[in-house]
Amino acid sequence: MMSFKEKYGAWALITGGTSGIGEAIANQVAAKGLNIILVARRLHLLEEKAKEIEDTHGVLVKIVQADLSKHDDISKVIQASTHLEVGLFVPCAAVETHGLTTKIPLEKELALIQLNITSVFVLTHHFAGKMVNRGTGGVLLVSSIIGHMPNPYLSNYAGSKAYILNFGSSLHWEMKKRGVDITVLSPGPTETPMMDNTNIDMNKMPMAFQKPELVANYGVEALGKKAVVIPGFKNNMMVFMASRVVSTSSAIKMGGEMMEKVLDPKYL
Ligand SMILES: NC(=O)c1ccc[n+]([C@@H]2O[C@H](COP(=O)([O-])OP(=O)(O)OC[C@H]3O[C@@H](n4cnc5c(N)ncnc54)[C@H](OP(=O)(O)O)[C@@H]3O)[C@@H](O)[C@H]2O)c1
Repeated sequence: MMSFKEKYGAWALITGGTSGIGEAIANQVAAKGLNIILVARRLHLLEEKAKEIEDTHGVLVKIVQADLSKHDDISKVIQASTHLEVGLFVPCAAVETHGLTTKIPLEKELALIQLNITSVFVLTHHFAGKMVNRGTGGVLLVSSIIGHMPNPYLSNYAGSKAYILNFGSSLHWEMKKRGVDITVLSPGPTETPMMDNTNIDMNKMPMAFQKPELVANYGVEALGKKAVVIPGFKNNMMVFMASRVVSTSSAIKMGGEMMEKVLDPKYL
């Protein structure tokens, strides 16, 4: 049996690898001996995290400063990795918008679609294509439990995560036959900077936060084994109830009523 490094080396490219779940994935993959390419916008964080990973794990780290909500920056990522064998691709960078959809500026919503969907598709198409030619490699896509159910007031974000879930689970079959592992990680609420900016009163939510390291570990361990992984029993129950037990109209009503209780009223 091939080791993780033999299957997914020599390089792992992780978008959003400087914070939260992406940072935890970068560290766990580096601990397995893979060299890392970090992609994000803030240069100081890229430099700081690159040094931390190099010092801790003794692997090579390259950084690419790119804003993946801008189409032209996607080619920067492709160019920077041209001569490197990327055996693992993790498109983790994403943004969330919340509130009454028609109150959210259109440019913000379009930037979300560009980052959360288009950049993920373009880069997966590129890296998975190279992996198919080599007959090996893996892609760890990052959805959310929100992608498994309706989520009023998070409509565009929920739609983007539903896209990742369906795209990834469908691609899983195509790629499996060609030696490339595709896994979709669907986290529930996780303690990261993204959650600090949601304007949701989490004390009123019937859910507990998980640590990014735990969530990352579910994803990394599921590679090559599962098409979709949801970290933890409570998140699995939530998805099961909302997507399989109650009707779609009940799930919409439950989600909408809950958001109207927990979201700062100025966003409704
Ligand atoms: N936190 C949760 O509760 C939760 C739950 C379910 C799913 N998720 C999913 O998990 C993934 C990671 O979320 P997180 O909470 O760990 O996020 P986070 O801590 O906010 O980190 C986001 C990362 O993405 C980068 N990024 C943001 N906008 C970017 C852009 N336009 N171009 C390039 N890079 C960009 C950020 O760096 P810069 O800002 O420097 O660019 C940062 O490295 C996302 O796909 C999210 O949807 C999170």
